[in-house]
Formats: sequence, structure tokens, C-alpha cells
Amino acid sequence: MTTDPRPMTADPHSEPGPAIRRNRVLAVLALVALLLLPLTAMTRQTGTMTYYLGQGYPPGQSAYIMMRVAGHLAYTLVFLQIVLGLLHRPLQRALGLGPLLSVHRSVGLAAFLLALSHPILFEWARQLRTGQSTITATFWPPIDHGFYELHQFFGAMGLYLLLIGVLAGVYGPRLAPKAWRAVHAVNYMVFFLVWYHSLRIGTSTRIGMLPVLYTVLAAVVVGLTLQRLRRRTGSRFPEGLTSRDARR
Ligand code: HEM
Repeated sequence: MTTDPRPMTADPHSEPGPAIRRNRVLAVLALVALLLLPLTAMTRQTGTMTYYLGQGYPPGQSAYIMMRVAGHLAYTLVFLQIVLGLLHRPLQRALGLGPLLSVHRSVGLAAFLLALSHPILFEWARQLRTGQSTITATFWPPIDHGFYELHQFFGAMGLYLLLIGVLAGVYGPRLAPKAWRAVHAVNYMVFFLVWYHSLRIGTSTRIGMLPVLYTVLAAVVVGLTLQRLRRRTGSRFPEGLTSRDARR
């Protein structure tokens, strides 16, 4: 892959070689491309989004558009987090970028801040549009009020579980070294709750490219998770030995 004599693992004290620098650039480009995918699909439906920042639109329209952008970016970053969590070792080995834990932390924080800004912007848009505060219904949507509120509630659940997942990832290793991974795994639930939330009530996630894209992302997560589980059971029971054999 490289003619650079320096090792592929990044040593923080030495200058990174050209192969590592190239892989860093490629990783950043891949991240930007991933984030642009839903935004491009959304722009194809809404037109250039900066129009809404101008005059002549109903109050709250630009906050509403920003709210949807934040939702897409948050969801895509949650996807990336899961992929990084499942594939960080092979990625580290293949790209030689050194431990990806700090990247995983930063992406997690960015995902949470964007996910939080999504309902805040929604509430702001509603207040600008109606002149009333609906803060309780935004952050704890009533599930017996009909289709829209119920599916908003899946998003709210996603947000609160994401907070738990982020806290478990940041403080868990110190506070509960044995249990934190199990709690951190709520992020899978977040991913599927938000997938369902956005596919049911999202404007751009119900038509065109986005339902396909988000379903492909969900299929990637399911595939990688099954592969990880299979590898785990495989390493627990040596070749040819099944769980039933092991119990005998
Ligand atoms: C209290 C929490 C939440 C509330 C109140 C909420 C509310 C909403 C609403 C009302 C919509 C429909 C917007 C439209 O008309 O298109 C929506 C869509 C969406 N939400 Fe949420 N949401 C919440 C949490 C989340 C979280 C945690 C994420 C991501 C991690 C998320 C991602 C999305 C996405 C991707 C869409 C689709 C946007 C579109 O189709 O353009 N939501 N949300």
C-alpha cells in the first residue's frame, strides 16, 4: 500500500509519514462525503436552503430547515459512531492512523450536540410560527395525541438514550469498568429509534433518495453487528466446537 519506510502506526511524537497524511486526508474526505449525502438529497427536494434565510418566508421557516439539517447530520454521525465502534481495530490497522478513540469521542459529542439542537430549533420554529411555547410537547411529546406526536416521541427517546450512551462512553470506563459497555450499547437503540422516527415523520426521509439511503445505513449496521456477534461466538468456541458441545 505504501513505499514509505516509516511504520503505519502513528507515533504522536514523530512527524507522520506521507502515507499516514494521505490516509488522514482520505478519512476527512470520506467523512465530508458521508455528511453531504443526506444534505444533497435534502437540497434536491427543498432547493437551495439558503433561500429560507431571506425575506418572504413564514416566520420560523429557516429555523425549521436548520432543525432538519441538524437531524440529518446527527443521525449520520450516530451511524458513523456505530461503524467506528465496530470497526475501529481493522480501520486502525488498515489506515495506520493510531488509536481512533479520540475521533470516536469527538464524533460522539458532535452527534449529541446536533441531536440536541434539532428539537431546540424545532421548538424555536414553532414559537416563531405560533407565538406560543410548546416546550413540554417538544421535549416530552404526548404519545396518546396521534401519529405525529407518537413518532416525535421515538425521536425524544432517541435523544435521551443518546445522552445515556454518551455519558456511559465518557465516564463509564472509570465509574463502572465492567458494565459500561452494556450501557454504551444503547446507541444501537438510538440509531434504530431515530431511523424509524425520521422515516415516519421526516419530510425528506419519506420520499426520493433518503429513505433508500437511511435503509442502506441501517442494513450496514445490522450486517456489521451480526458479523461482530458471529466473530465473538466463534472466538469463544474454538473451531468445530458449538455452544452445545461446550455445555456438555
Ligand atoms: C426531542 C427530540 C426530538 C424531536 C422533538 C424531534 C422532532 C422531529 C420532527 C417534528 C421531525 C419532522 C420534521 C419535518 O417536518 O421534516 C423530525 C425529523 C427528523 N428527525 Fe427528529 N426529533 C427529535 C429527536 C431526533 C434525534 C435525536 C435525531 C437524530 C439523532 C433526529 C433526527 C431526525 C431526522 C433525520 C429527521 C428527518 C428530517 C427530514 O426529513 O428532513 N430527531 N424530528
